[in-house]
Amino acid sequence: MISSLRLFTLAALLISTQAATTPTITPPGHKGLPNQPIADISHPTTDNAAIVQAVTEVDQKTAPPIDAAPNINIAPTVVTAIDGTITNTTVDAVAPPTDRSDSRKKRERKFGRRAVPKFEKIFDGLPQGQHDASVEGTAYLTYTVVNNATYNVQACLDWCAGIDGCVFVNVYQEFNNYLLDFVFGEKSNLKCAAYGDIHTAAEKTNFGGQASYPQVGNETVPLTFMTQSSGWGLNTLVDPDTPDGYDLVGQFKGANNAPGYMGFSFLDKYDVNACAQLCNGRGVDPNGGGCAYFNIWRAVVDGTPTTYTCSMYYLVADASTAVNFGQGNLIVTLSRGYARKDLLPDGGFEGYTDCDEFCLTESYANWIGTSPSGGSYDASIFYFEAYAHTGHGSALLGAAFDEDADVGTLSPAQPIKTESGANYVIQCFMSSAFSGQQLEAQAKVDIMWNGQRVGGVSGFQEYAFVQASAVGTGSDKLAFVGGSAPAWTFIDDCHIYKA
Ligand SMILES: *[C@@H]1O[C@H](CO)[C@@H](O)[C@H](O)[C@H]1NC(C)=O
Ligand SMILES: *[C@@H]1O[C@H](CO)[C@@H](O)[C@H](O)[C@H]1NC(C)=O
Ligand SMILES: *[C@@H]1O[C@H](CO)[C@@H](O)[C@H](O)[C@H]1NC(C)=O
Repeated sequence: MISSLRLFTLAALLISTQAATTPTITPPGHKGLPNQPIADISHPTTDNAAIVQAVTEVDQKTAPPIDAAPNINIAPTVVTAIDGTITNTTVDAVAPPTDRSDSRKKRERKFGRRAVPKFEKIFDGLPQGQHDASVEGTAYLTYTVVNNATYNVQACLDWCAGIDGCVFVNVYQEFNNYLLDFVFGEKSNLKCAAYGDIHTAAEKTNFGGQASYPQVGNETVPLTFMTQSSGWGLNTLVDPDTPDGYDLVGQFKGANNAPGYMGFSFLDKYDVNACAQLCNGRGVDPNGGGCAYFNIWRAVVDGTPTTYTCSMYYLVADASTAVNFGQGNLIVTLSRGYARKDLLPDGGFEGYTDCDEFCLTESYANWIGTSPSGGSYDASIFYFEAYAHTGHGSALLGAAFDEDADVGTLSPAQPIKTESGANYVIQCFMSSAFSGQQLEAQAKVDIMWNGQRVGGVSGFQEYAFVQASAVGTGSDKLAFVGGSAPAWTFIDDCHIYKA
């Protein structure tokens, strides 16, 4: 027989179990606290040590290969390091392009815009007859040969002027190169090598000494050598066009030392479009989201251009953090910052500032929340740090005061101005965790683009990154549709970027 005391304990146990399954929840509209407090995010900053270390390991110095034919196409930009690992791969392989036709159009436009460049002699060759050396330098593009009846510098400069990004040429004669002497149609040994960076006489390190002629019997094969190796260049690199989907934040004296750091790559030339493509394809930081900013700069070591760093960030940086000027024999030069254009105004809901601690609204200047007829506050915007992913603003789907179980709709006050036919990504952080695992199991949000569902989330989750893809039509309507109290969803830190 069960004692009355044990019965009492059993009953108490039952009641407490029941209480746990249907807890009384103070809804967000009454300033209830989330089931789990929202974790503070710490933003990693630039890993300068890893960058400096990789600079010492990378070797991007090239001369025209002895067996290369003249006038071959410039190879696509090469990624020579990724996050400290030395590599040799293309930008397309690291970050596949989303819109090939568009980037090609852009390159053609860029080609036609170039002003007539003013080349100056940077160094002379040694007197005729003396063995000299050709340049081994960064950003080698391609080479040609010019008529060798005279020391024909002008023909070389004219050729360079027609090549996108060419800012320097090394003119020299190469002897005992069988291909130049007998195979290639030009029948000239006066080489003209084009570079996308400016080099000095200190970089004349290629003395030849290679066997190019075939072995005939026991005769000694003559080795290659160079004479009259001179350098001609502009006084700086060509100002790059701003990549599609980005704004130039500024040209800086130093590299950024900024929060929201996602990692870096080295490029074989100063190519802002390549860096933009790497940023677009970088993937996401679980706390910070997609790449929103890149910093490109040239590393000059002992006076010699060595590599081109592309650092990526999920937070937009500016001149105030461009304070890394280099260290030791490494100098930071040509630093530029570019921010990804965000088409969504106030995607962090920080523009709602009706109070300084806790308040909510159905709409304000930048966002409109709507409820089905009979519902109230089914979509709302909060000023309350405890609900936000970052800052103090966030939006809520599901009745803020728990007065109905209707689905709310949250939309930007204005349609999104897009480019027709271009690809975009919609990125947000969403949290369906306020009322705990069980009640939030039913949580659901659809991301709608002109009335079509393009993405969304469902089920319990703490703040997590959510992304959807959409194609622009020129003017587009975005809406977040969801919530059904007490299965609420908070939304914060949204962006719309060109993909
Ligand atoms: C990089 O890869 C290309 C293509 O595979 C190759 O031609 C080139 O020699 C490689 N460069 C280095 C430094 O390994
Ligand atoms: C010009 O180049 C051709 C092909 O390499 C070579 O045979 C010839 O000797 C060169 N002429 C001069 C003046 O260097
Ligand atoms: C090269 O070979 C020829 C005969 O094949 C020989 O007479 C001559 O001495 C050789 N020369 C040298 C330098 O070995």
